[in-house]
Amino acid sequence: MQGPLIESLARQGVSRRTFLKYCATLASMMALPPAAGLAMAEAMAAARRPSVIWLPFQECTGCTESITRSHSPTLEGMIFDMISLDYQETLMAAAGHQAEEARHAAMKANHGKYLLIVDGSIPLGQDGAYSCIGGRSNLEILKEAAQGAAAIVAVGTCAAYGGIPKARPNPTGAVSVSDIVKDKPIVNIPGCPPVPVVMTGVLAHYLTFGSLPDLDDKGRPRAFFGETIHDRCYRRPFYDHGKFAKTFDDKGARRGWCLFELGCKGPVTHNACATAKWNGGTSWPVESGHGCLGCSEPDFWDAGDFYKALSVPAHPPTSVVAAPMVGATAGAAAGFANRAKKNAARKARQPITAADLEK
Ligand code: SF4
Ligand code: SF4
Ligand code: F3S
Repeated sequence: MQGPLIESLARQGVSRRTFLKYCATLASMMALPPAAGLAMAEAMAAARRPSVIWLPFQECTGCTESITRSHSPTLEGMIFDMISLDYQETLMAAAGHQAEEARHAAMKANHGKYLLIVDGSIPLGQDGAYSCIGGRSNLEILKEAAQGAAAIVAVGTCAAYGGIPKARPNPTGAVSVSDIVKDKPIVNIPGCPPVPVVMTGVLAHYLTFGSLPDLDDKGRPRAFFGETIHDRCYRRPFYDHGKFAKTFDDKGARRGWCLFELGCKGPVTHNACATAKWNGGTSWPVESGHGCLGCSEPDFWDAGDFYKALSVPAHPPTSVVAAPMVGATAGAAAGFANRAKKNAARKARQPITAADLEK
């Protein structure tokens, strides 16, 4: 444990006002009442920084890159100071035996109290030989580190569900953290990579309330994964009016029409991209002109052709039925049908102009 967060933020030039505003935004994104923003700010400002052990396993470093936002100092990046990152082999200066010693020392000093973050899947094939650190398999290290952890955060789709390494034919026998650890609270923050502010939100919740946030049936925080991309997509009015881009460079695409027919998986994908966005709120895949690939859902890589439309009616505003979908579960299809009933109200709130609809 180290000094309070507020001191560290002040040293980096973050004012109290900026911090309060940030906490209010975070609370609102997590659907907490307005007063929770202040409570969160006070709790985080005073909190002693908990020890965090971060284990990168079979991964591509995309998750680490996304979450540390190394390209620019942002408040999300600085708020990482609310934890004491005692081990992260990609980021830490120490290497080899020194790094392993640092991990063991932090685990011993904070036994039962540290937060364990994992990114990457765990390969079980060939006795775990596909990914080892210091001659020990990821499986061995995970079991050891999980023992003394208060809770585990599985960051990225690889750690949460196996991700791309688990894609057919899964040559390394990749599995997720929850396939291995059964006796600790685990929160999944999927995404390939995950949205940075979701990670910050989960850490802020843990510091404020001392517990993990409410989770859905796939272990994801409901506050960020409770709605689909499609629910919050700014192209949704075009979907509701049956205006679809047919190619990535046609007139519809240039006018920002819906990418459903180009394979967008937004209707069956739960994530916060449409509201949180990326790179300090600059953009996100659909705003950049590409459909959602469904990267925060289990087995998204094997779920079907990325460029083939989901098999639901193309003009579903008030009459969609729970038809089988390519790459979607029946539950997702039913949810999609239910949400379609709300479209009339949504259309009234988000009118589009005659010029937008012009062919
Ligand atoms: Fe890389 Fe995606 Fe796996 Fe993260 S979830 S480690 S970005 S492949
Ligand atoms: Fe947005 Fe994709 Fe839904 Fe169209 S199908 S509204 S592009 S999420
Ligand atoms: Fe992934 Fe879709 Fe967001 S592909 S990054 S969940 S828009």
